Amino acid sequence: MTGEYQRPLAAPGGLRLHLNENTAGCSPRVLAALEALTGEDIAFYPDYGDVEHETAAFLGVPRNQLVLTNGLDEGIFVAIVAAARETVAGESGIRPEVVVPLPAFDMYGVTARAVGAQVVEVPPQQGFRLPVASLLAAITPRTRIVFVTSPNNPTGVRVSLDEIGEVSAALPPGGIVFVDEAYHDFCGDTALPLLATRSNVIVGRTFAKGHGLAALRVGCLIGHAEVLARIRTIVPPYSLNVCAAAGLRAALGDRDRLAWYVAQVDRSRRLIYTLCDRLGLTYWESGANFVLVRVGARADEVVSKLAAQSIFVRDRSGEPGCAGCVRITAGVVDHTEQCLLALEEILCGVR
Ligand SMILES: Cc1ncc(COP(=O)(O)O)c(C=O)c1O
Repeated sequence: MTGEYQRPLAAPGGLRLHLNENTAGCSPRVLAALEALTGEDIAFYPDYGDVEHETAAFLGVPRNQLVLTNGLDEGIFVAIVAAARETVAGESGIRPEVVVPLPAFDMYGVTARAVGAQVVEVPPQQGFRLPVASLLAAITPRTRIVFVTSPNNPTGVRVSLDEIGEVSAALPPGGIVFVDEAYHDFCGDTALPLLATRSNVIVGRTFAKGHGLAALRVGCLIGHAEVLARIRTIVPPYSLNVCAAAGLRAALGDRDRLAWYVAQVDRSRRLIYTLCDRLGLTYWESGANFVLVRVGARADEVVSKLAAQSIFVRDRSGEPGCAGCVRITAGVVDHTEQCLLALEEILCGVR
């Protein structure tokens, strides 16, 4: 383990179904907003207080419970830094613990290790449901943050509000449960209702997926005003650049585009399930814009044969519990159909 995020590669021009991106591209309104920027807009430091306000209204949360970040990656980074610097009562100088149920998005472990925290990994259970009992057993007085991803990446499996509530209730004082809702747009699940009664829950969102702003880098954290006030002391003052702020405003205004894309994802997921059922392949019902499929021991061969046709999917067979699995982005239906046609031919040995 290098402790460093490994960037997955893909040749330009092919079908990028390996990074859970929005395969339709952003709303044309975003491009128009970028074109409308002036020389001064680019020359001056960005002031995006209004956009933060509009984003809070879009998400239905009070303004003081939201902070915009440079992608959700930065949200994860600042939450870990904030959590790791909280001292455990009566035990200064101890190593803070970050609990990560596996398989998980790489950046939790990468970031936690970077700040010197101890990463406590919890193995998966059958069906990839959140392993609540072992998660609770992994919590100690030194636990500063527990990551729960719903729907999870790379499995697509959703976590219930009750399960998140159980984790939140088991945390020591100062501990936080970070609910990563990067894929919220594709299932609607959210832990936001928990904020009414629990101050130790932070919800993370990104505008990379449903809104297609991955390259602009926009995410946010939502949490109790007091918790976010501590996090704001860490977030740089100009986390969002002027393009990201203008693009976000335009994307939020195009609700039809989001609804259309979410419907494409839903149809694509169902096409993947149908092929898997027909070929007898195991898959996990997904709340996200991808599906994890067990193609068998030949996962790496399947990935490289698809890549030879410029169709890129992600080999996840090295992840805990994911032997023989590939993750396929479910986006524009036409792209999914092309991928599934090629996949079926490969698996049936036609080529
Ligand atoms: C679970 C999860 N969290 C966070 C992110 C990062 O989001 P962003 O692109 O906004 O940094 C991703 C990106 O794929 C993700 O899968």
